[in-house]
Amino acid sequence: MLLWVSLLVLAPVSGKIAAPPRPVISLQPPWTPVFQGETVLLTCGGFGFYAPGKTTWYSKLSEKETPGNTLKVHTSGQYRCQTQDSPPSSPVYLQFYSASLILQSPHSVFEGDTLVLRCQKRGKEKLMAVKYFLNGNFLSHSNESLQFLIPRASSKNSGSYTCIGYEDKKYLLKSANKIIRVQELFPLPKLKATASQPTDGNPVNLSCHTQLHPERLHTPLHFSFFRDKGVILSNWSRSPELQIPSVWSEDSGRYWCEARTANLSVRKCSLPLRIQVQRVPVSGVLMETRPPGGQAVEGEKLVLVCSMAEGTGDTTFSWHRENMNETVGRTSQRSQRAEMQIPVISESDAGEYYCAADNGFGPIQSEVMNITVRRTVRNRSDLIAAGIAGGLLGILLLPVALPFYLWLSRKSAGDGSLGDTTRTLPTPVPGQPPYSTSPVPVEPQPWYENVHHREGNSLYSEIQIFQLGEEEEANTARTSSKYKDASVVYSEVKTQLPDDSAGQVISKDEES
Ligand SMILES: *[C@@H]1O[C@H](CO)[C@@H](O)[C@H](O)[C@H]1NC(C)=O
Ligand SMILES: *[C@@H]1O[C@H](CO)[C@@H](O)[C@H](O)[C@H]1NC(C)=O
Ligand SMILES: *[C@@H]1O[C@H](CO)[C@@H](O)[C@H](O)[C@H]1NC(C)=O
Ligand SMILES: *[C@@H]1O[C@H](CO)[C@@H](O)[C@H](O)[C@H]1NC(C)=O
Ligand SMILES: *[C@@H]1O[C@H](CO)[C@@H](O)[C@H](O)[C@H]1NC(C)=O
Ligand SMILES: *[C@@H]1O[C@H](CO)[C@@H](O)[C@H](O)[C@H]1NC(C)=O
Repeated sequence: MLLWVSLLVLAPVSGKIAAPPRPVISLQPPWTPVFQGETVLLTCGGFGFYAPGKTTWYSKLSEKETPGNTLKVHTSGQYRCQTQDSPPSSPVYLQFYSASLILQSPHSVFEGDTLVLRCQKRGKEKLMAVKYFLNGNFLSHSNESLQFLIPRASSKNSGSYTCIGYEDKKYLLKSANKIIRVQELFPLPKLKATASQPTDGNPVNLSCHTQLHPERLHTPLHFSFFRDKGVILSNWSRSPELQIPSVWSEDSGRYWCEARTANLSVRKCSLPLRIQVQRVPVSGVLMETRPPGGQAVEGEKLVLVCSMAEGTGDTTFSWHRENMNETVGRTSQRSQRAEMQIPVISESDAGEYYCAADNGFGPIQSEVMNITVRRTVRNRSDLIAAGIAGGLLGILLLPVALPFYLWLSRKSAGDGSLGDTTRTLPTPVPGQPPYSTSPVPVEPQPWYENVHHREGNSLYSEIQIFQLGEEEEANTARTSSKYKDASVVYSEVKTQLPDDSAGQVISKDEES
């Protein structure tokens, strides 16, 4: 009974292995040829091959069955083995030589192997030196190690080898020619793609096809995928497949893959495969708004949505205002839809708008849409409130108006004494000019200097009106030297509430 270890799973190379695996014969010692009289042990096995039953051995003239999977051999010949249900193995040529000097090598040599050549003399006496030749050309001379190693064999190392062995300085022996064929470990990989002209955004599977030699199915291979020069699509992986979830037209190019052994003894690249990703041109561009119909509300947000019925890849969306030859927004993204916001819309934003989308074939425009901006009641009342507040502030800021204000708020009079005559400039409100930015014609006002004038509960002292020089209007310095043009300066006002005996200072003002 045979137990097949699934090669489809364990074999690192994808691809069908339709027939059950062939067994492989291995040799112990691994060399061929050998001297006559020696014994070679053949084993019928191979990677993933487990055949505990009987084995049948074939040589040119005979057929032999063994209870296990080994056979001892003493005679030259071509050997094959077969286990129950398996196909026969590839043949192994064994040679038993009667010569005094033989050139040994492994019975099968693959690319990447270290090829060992052994010039062997029959008997126990050692050779003094050896020389190796390939196709009649001198390769190497050695009196130390009598072996010759080719570290990373390739097909270039195939050929007819001989060696000469020196027993002493005069006496030499020559081996027979030994043909060595370095076998291909795996053929050049071939890159295949599920589509060579995919459309933008679609998936593509790449596979790097190759097949290890049946005798070397156990060799681990690693695969990597590349594009053009230097674009690495995948790290080295045991998987010969690469799934690209989506390709885009900028991914077009020449793709190739490389397969290599773990120790880099063999690495092979596929021929390039051209993959041209197709882009679908933009069509059916549509502009919509939120709120819909281009009906914006002043002070609120308006969203302009640009979309298209068809089109793939990176697309530049732009929004334009008709007549004003103005691009109001632009964005690039890989999508069929983009939005632009006007966070706070004002009446001046009303007008005709359209959007355009371009994915490389030229911009396609939407229809023009009228955006109207509607004012709201809430807005108007806000404005009125703001207007009142601003007006009051303005009044309070104008010293010119201060006496007027005080005249209006006149109440019961205090005792009228003017003890405190501290004089300071009016304190400006931060962030606002203390006075109107355009020069206001100032009407001359009366000067109440130390008049201890009593009217109601307000008391005036040194009320003057001054006019700022133009260059000083924005200046809020406190030095009086700046107020040379002052015609009248207000100094102090005291207001006394009827039920409060202490004078309360409302405002103090400037000296000239
Ligand atoms: C690389 O590994 C293979 C087996 O996978 C082996 O046969 C070969 O000798 C190694 N080569 C080197 C240079 O180590
Ligand atoms: C090998 O040959 C070199 C000269 O070619 C010589 O110096 C050396 O002693 C020799 N070694 C042996 C072990 O014969
Ligand atoms: C790519 O491979 C995955 C996994 O094998 C499969 O599900 C998918 O359908 C493949 N995609 C294509 C485009 O063949
Ligand atoms: C590729 O793999 C190697 C080793 O496995 C790792 O050091 C390297 O960072 C990986 N590179 C990338 C881009 O993942
Ligand atoms: C719009 O502006 C561009 C560049 O500023 C100019 O080339 C073009 O002639 C203008 N078009 C119109 C209709 O004003
Ligand atoms: C947009 O509205 C204005 C004024 O209501 C009008 O003159 C213009 O024709 C409208 N444009 C479109 C494209 O409807």
